[in-house]
Amino acid sequence: MTDIESVQKYIEEHQERFQRELVELLQIPSVSTEPSCKEEVARAASWVADNLRKAGLEVEVVETEGHPIVHGWWSGAPGQPTALVYGHYDVQPPEPLEDWVSGPFEPTVRDGNLYARGATDDKGQMFTHMKSVEAWIQATGSLPINLHLVIEGEEEIGSPHLPAFLESRRADLTCDCAVVSDTAQFAPGMPAITYGLKGLTFYEVTLTGPQRDLHSGVYGGAVGNPANNLARILADLLDEEGRIQIPGFYDDCRPLADWEREQFAALPFDEDGFREYVGMDALFGEEGFSTLERKWARPTCDINGLTAGYQGEGAKTIVPSKATGKVSFRLVPDQDPEAIAAAFCRFVEERVRPGVRCEIDSHTGCRAVLVPVDSAYCQAAVRAIEQGFGTPPVFIREGGSIPIVESFKSILEVDTLLLGWGQNDDNLHSPNEKFSLADFEKGTRTSAHLWQELARRE
Ligand code: BES
Ligand code: MN
Ligand code: MN
Repeated sequence: MTDIESVQKYIEEHQERFQRELVELLQIPSVSTEPSCKEEVARAASWVADNLRKAGLEVEVVETEGHPIVHGWWSGAPGQPTALVYGHYDVQPPEPLEDWVSGPFEPTVRDGNLYARGATDDKGQMFTHMKSVEAWIQATGSLPINLHLVIEGEEEIGSPHLPAFLESRRADLTCDCAVVSDTAQFAPGMPAITYGLKGLTFYEVTLTGPQRDLHSGVYGGAVGNPANNLARILADLLDEEGRIQIPGFYDDCRPLADWEREQFAALPFDEDGFREYVGMDALFGEEGFSTLERKWARPTCDINGLTAGYQGEGAKTIVPSKATGKVSFRLVPDQDPEAIAAAFCRFVEERVRPGVRCEIDSHTGCRAVLVPVDSAYCQAAVRAIEQGFGTPPVFIREGGSIPIVESFKSILEVDTLLLGWGQNDDNLHSPNEKFSLADFEKGTRTSAHLWQELARRE
């Protein structure tokens, strides 16, 4: 038997245990945004570290001011390339709990899918690489290339401590490419290589008016109402055609290339299925662009949350003292989050009415990324996917963001292979998140092929 045959045999024979282990990891509520989960997040880090140690890697758990980073490595292939696998063991909050069919931290299999918070984003996807590494080491005693695995616990809060880790270990982490499985396939049976991700910038705008809620008959019309004011500001952000109205917002946007528009249009995108999945009877977005172009390659603006005034039942006639809006922009290549922040603040401040005070908190920010599709590493990934999924990948972009990917380029000077095993209806960040067990196995097999194909880079 060749090495890769023994590795694939090992994956097949240990599939049930791999699933049981994933269930164990999914039971840990490692919600990075939730301060009360701090210990659980640390427990997930130790679980990952132990699992990597058992697989045969050297492992270090690096403490940060936030959540720990798990670093595992194997350096037994001198002269061969080195890949850095990145993933995250932290998850989004599970709320609203009442919408889950089975508990978010009680992993349950239904119809070939494993349901749990983190199933696809990113515990299940990241685990495929951990298991392919175990399979190589346990079945053959070695790996065809050198590997670093960097598994962090702060992706969902913008990876605040990871760039410093990369900087401080730059020499040690020297590698040829990064590998991330934290995106989706184009459709069932249509695996994809993602070559573009959007950037992100997120703000919380708080307007404060009178020092307490006031009777709207006695005071209304005579003092600035922060809720009215906020509604005006937010309404001004977009026009009727879905274009963002902040001066200069589109200046740096890299336009879609003709080949991309052609390639997007050639994909079998099921627009009606997409519309039905979101449960609306019509779609809406920026005039002049297709749904895939809007999703993958045009900047967007979304109000994520609004809070102001009386939230109880019935009418309470007040001028509220406070109004808050959470607003985010998804960015495309060449837009600079800092320039956007300055333009956004100016836009808001110009519209604040007399007497109303305005505070803008800016949360995470990251730039969009585009990775080359013609590299030898990318060709290796194409071959690995062909073998693992039985069909070659399509090339797509995605609208989500993975903040650390730009740091792999700027700090480690490597491009990232974005190889997603998820599906578009996996409900990430939503109730009933899931991951297909068939994709879990195919992802693991593909990952095992990838180490071999990277060693054969032409
Ligand atoms: N895995 C996602 C990113 C993603 C999702 C990429 C779907 C492509 C398709 C990641 O965990 C995520 O949720 N990122 C956040 C950014 C972060 C700063 C909160 C996002 O995109 O909102
Ligand atoms: Mn993720
Ligand atoms: Mn996420």
